[in-house]
Amino acid sequence: MPSPFETERLALRPFSKADVDKLCELDSDPDVMRFLNGGVATPREVIRTRILPWFMSFDRDCAGLGFWAAHEKASGDFIGWFELHPEEGRDPDELALGYRLRRKFWRKGYATEGSRALIGRAFRELGARRVFAAAYSENLASRGVLEKCGMRAARTYRAIADDMPATYVASDAVFPSDDIEYVLDRGDWARAAAIASRPD
Ligand SMILES: CC(C)(COP(=O)(O)OP(=O)(O)OC[C@H]1O[C@@H](n2cnc3c(N)ncnc32)[C@H](O)[C@@H]1OP(=O)(O)O)[C@@H](O)C(=O)NCCC(=O)NCCS
Repeated sequence: MPSPFETERLALRPFSKADVDKLCELDSDPDVMRFLNGGVATPREVIRTRILPWFMSFDRDCAGLGFWAAHEKASGDFIGWFELHPEEGRDPDELALGYRLRRKFWRKGYATEGSRALIGRAFRELGARRVFAAAYSENLASRGVLEKCGMRAARTYRAIADDMPATYVASDAVFPSDDIEYVLDRGDWARAAAIASRPD
């Protein structure tokens, strides 16, 4: 189960059935959805019957992995979500990282703060060999987060709807640009952490 945890400014907790409205509000902002599906709101029924059950399925099966609802500690407000889990078709010691935040909370360093905490857990507590993440090439905000977390661009590819299970994408959607896969390997993370903790 994805246990609750805190960072300096964020409180992260597992999702519950009561979160449908929060997810609907998040996914109804065209700016939030712009690089995910062209700006289309996720239908409430899709959130209720497919996305939220998927988020919550990790509660049963996976120790320390899954999706977390994130709240700003200072206000208690729901700011969005983070994810960290293995992905079908990839080695189980490679963990996928992702995030989606309400627009009001952008540009405060929250995505970087939550992602760094999850990367630390992946390597310190979960025995991951690699953390990876995908960002649409035009999504400079997401790429900025991944680069600030020390991740490197490893390959580009053309995404299809199946690549984005946390997102409602019309079956005939076309992605005109490439996605970029970013990766961070345990050794590179450990070296960077050691350098960062060195006294000046
Ligand atoms: C991507 C997203 C989570 C970034 O969240 P955030 O909390 O605003 O990101 P941070 O504040 O941690 O920003 C980290 C860095 O990214 C870059 N960045 C952030 N927003 C940016 C923007 N609008 N344009 C260009 N660079 C940006 C900057 O380098 C920033 O560091 P700086 O503020 O020190 O300059 C947020 O924009 C979002 O939820 N977008 C919609 C959903 C989405 O695209 N999810 C990712 C799918 S791959």
